[in-house]
Amino acid sequence: MSSLAGRRIVLGITGGIAAYKAVEVCRQLVDAGAHVVPVMTSGGRRMVGETTFSALASEPVRTSLFDDPETPIPHTKMGQSADLILVCPATARVLSDIRTGRSADLLTATILATRAPVMVCPAMHTEMWEQPSVQENLAVLADRGVLIVPPESGRLAGGDMGHGRLAEPATVVSAVEAALGAGDMADHKVLVTAGGTREPIDAVRYVGNRSSGKQGHAVAAEAASRGAEVVLVTTQPTTAPSGVRVMPVETADEMAAVCEIEAPDATVVVMAAAVADFRPADAAGSKLKKADGAPDIVLVPTIDILATLGAAKPAGQTLVGFAAETDDLVANATDKLARKNLDLIVANDVSKPNVGFEHSTNEVVLLLAEGTRHDVPLSDKREIARAVLDAALGHLS
Ligand code: CTP
Repeated sequence: MSSLAGRRIVLGITGGIAAYKAVEVCRQLVDAGAHVVPVMTSGGRRMVGETTFSALASEPVRTSLFDDPETPIPHTKMGQSADLILVCPATARVLSDIRTGRSADLLTATILATRAPVMVCPAMHTEMWEQPSVQENLAVLADRGVLIVPPESGRLAGGDMGHGRLAEPATVVSAVEAALGAGDMADHKVLVTAGGTREPIDAVRYVGNRSSGKQGHAVAAEAASRGAEVVLVTTQPTTAPSGVRVMPVETADEMAAVCEIEAPDATVVVMAAAVADFRPADAAGSKLKKADGAPDIVLVPTIDILATLGAAKPAGQTLVGFAAETDDLVANATDKLARKNLDLIVANDVSKPNVGFEHSTNEVVLLLAEGTRHDVPLSDKREIARAVLDAALGHLS
């Protein structure tokens, strides 16, 4: 599996003619399984149309710190969730801004708001490239750990020959692969379930719940970005992250059937799905008609997938369950941990604001079978995913 699978890369496109080559870089990164988040500066937008990057990348192009429909703070969201920020091409201007810590636009603000590695691919005319100011900026950036993909010699814009041409797309992609490395879960197979199951009443109606699948998807994305082979069994396949093997399911029975096949050789199983505890005993094959009156729906228990996996848990596997509670959080979760033979349970009090179902944030208590407890404060679901996998790896070691 490519070290790029599931990795989140912010691709900054600045105003150099070589921006046309960044289109190919974007495509190759996506083809290798990376999740590419494109950010264009005003100069970059003069070189290549936004539509091209929006069509090829994993998300639409972002260009501004303001008026983002999803968040008032796009730079911190992107910076915190990135595995790497790639500036390709990097103009002399952006190199200078990164050096001085100047927040001139969305891209430079994102670079300031990240702890992820930053890689720059300078491209400019030979005269600009050779300027002591540019070379000094690069030397300072290299000293600080910024990764530099050096330009090559050859034909430049306007027909000139010389040094300063953007490295070839394959070279840039190889540099990204090398920088991201194999990840600390490279030897793991992680099985994750996500979303609420839908138990049919008839051909069009179902018994379901409010789970959005966000927390399970964040665990899958995090595991993939750490190099694991990830199988994601989800009722929300359209919002599944890239770089994972997606198994779309609807019902508890379908989820159980996939888990039965995929769990035995998984090193970590994270059961984040909100599985319905009951399903209608008999689902009508066609749509029930209103004129026939209110149906009597008899509910029967579904299979407890997690308990089944716990009973058959192979040696060396870490089994993680979730407990969404409204009362006696720790006591109820501790009981589930023991009852279902789990190694770790992620407990959350869903009666608190911004916690659990449908929110992009969560606040959890991690309880391990060995008796340790770790409280994770209200954070983005990706941060929670990181803490869950860290705890699972800690349990394995
Ligand atoms: N779970 C499962 N199969 C079910 C029900 C739940 O695998 N049929 C899993 C969930 O994915 C979650 C964990 O079990 O990881 C906890 O589910 P929960 O519904 O809270 O546990 P229950 O034992 O059903 O307890 P209760 O509903 O009484 O709180």
